[in-house]
Amino acid sequence: KILILDFGSQVTQLIARRVRDAGVFSEVFPYDVSDEFVKEYGAAGVILSGGPNSVIEGDTPRVPQAVFELGVPVLGICYGMQAMAEQLGGKVENGLVREFGYAEVRAHGHTALLKEISDFTTPEGYGMLKVWMSHGDKVNAMPPGFKLMASTPNCPIAGMADEDRRFYAFQFHPEVTHTVQGEAILGRFVHEICGCKSDWNMPDYISEAVEKIREQVGTDHVILGLSGGVDSSVAAALIHRAIGDQLTCVFVDHGLLRLDEGKMVMDMFGKNLGVKVIHVDATEQFMGKLAGVTDPEAKRKIIGAEFVEVFQAEAGKLKDAKWLAQGTIYPDVIESAGKGKKGAHTIKSHHNVGGLPETLNLKLLEPLRELFKDEVRKLGVALGLPHEMVYRHPFPGPGLGVRILGEVKMEYADLLRRADAIFIEELRNTPIPLAAELAAGEGHGAFHKNWYDATSQAFAVFLPVKSVGVMGDGRTYEYVVALRAVQTLDFMTAHWAHLPHDLLGKVSNRIINEVRGINRVVYDISGKPPATIEWE
Ligand code: XMP
Repeated sequence: KILILDFGSQVTQLIARRVRDAGVFSEVFPYDVSDEFVKEYGAAGVILSGGPNSVIEGDTPRVPQAVFELGVPVLGICYGMQAMAEQLGGKVENGLVREFGYAEVRAHGHTALLKEISDFTTPEGYGMLKVWMSHGDKVNAMPPGFKLMASTPNCPIAGMADEDRRFYAFQFHPEVTHTVQGEAILGRFVHEICGCKSDWNMPDYISEAVEKIREQVGTDHVILGLSGGVDSSVAAALIHRAIGDQLTCVFVDHGLLRLDEGKMVMDMFGKNLGVKVIHVDATEQFMGKLAGVTDPEAKRKIIGAEFVEVFQAEAGKLKDAKWLAQGTIYPDVIESAGKGKKGAHTIKSHHNVGGLPETLNLKLLEPLRELFKDEVRKLGVALGLPHEMVYRHPFPGPGLGVRILGEVKMEYADLLRRADAIFIEELRNTPIPLAAELAAGEGHGAFHKNWYDATSQAFAVFLPVKSVGVMGDGRTYEYVVALRAVQTLDFMTAHWAHLPHDLLGKVSNRIINEVRGINRVVYDISGKPPATIEWE
């Protein structure tokens, strides 16, 4: 396995993903782990990430000394290269010219790492790499023992290597896709330089994870809050594979789920997979608490608190339960480590609606803690969950509670559910031509089968205002539904999706004809920022 030390770069996670894509398990830890940790971790190689600091300023992050004494290969990237240079006796200076973005780097192909890897050859016969650079500082003197591995006019030492000690470093970022040979370089590093085999794959992972869960819980009972979302569903399927009837799932239905979602969850887990699921229909309880409340944050708080209450009441009935299982995934873990105390690999208790309290007195079981979202999805498919379920758009914990503007009423939720289902059905049924996909631009690079796959999140929003319409010979005075569809990679920023007008027209017609109570449909063309994805 590969140890990645994080110096705070925005793209550190990508290093781990790239290494895992190469079939080698890797984990990210903060840069200031102890020397003991580094020695005991058992890494076959270490990668030092980039970061926002400058090694020239005194009190900035340094690489644990043990990394250089392990006797395993080390790859420094950007800040990781600068810290490596500085700590091993080289020199770093503040570059007069900052470099951001695309660059062409001359590759000195005599190193084991870059040998025969290049994008094109110059007339003079130099191998060149198309890379992504982002730095202010640069190394201006290599430490003893190093030779030049890559250079640009702006950055004469853009790569360096000490092949005896197997220390390598780049000023550019091999982990981003803009670096065309990035995959080849990182693959070469982990396979050939570090000697790791490609043994990180789903079937092996399942057997290992199953073993680990059995060992962890023994004959104890486990409870899990099933939400219908991807993470909790995959966690449930995995734990059930491991311990069968020792697992009980609690599915809290707050009445604000999508159309037929409760039935779908119960059918899939209860009937198909034979998982013990307690379906708690708490609709009335939630509606009672939400009556008269219009403020979005107040609604969120109420739904969160109510969820905890209902879940806790159910958990209390399961006297044998010693464990609480959660679908925490790796980005949650890294994110919280980054935000928490420096150096601490802390746990964020994953919650969708509200945090489950510690007073439950249960031990935490988090079998997906090591996995990225796409790995969770692959695991779900490998465990037999339907593709359609595993590749569903995200759905907020408070559900339709934040998609009904203002006061939440069951009447509104019922109208919204039906409108939303029509929208989603049409998105799934409309193939996306390749040309449209290419024109849609940022937010995706894969080839999608239909518009549902080609959007990151799509849903309907209920607007509790009435407008006048005409149907047949009669005047109508009914509610409005807004359609929202966005494309995004990280949900922090998003573009509105350029859905075909024909598709929008069909959805509008169907909603107005089939959902009595709605006579107008509008399409939201706001980006995030300045709008958000949800309307509340
Ligand atoms: P916004 O609306 O902030 O949404 O652009 C970004 C992403 O977060 C989801 N979201 C939530 N998820 N509880 C959740 O579990 C919430 O209260 C919540 N609010 C927004 C939203 O669906 C989108 O994917």
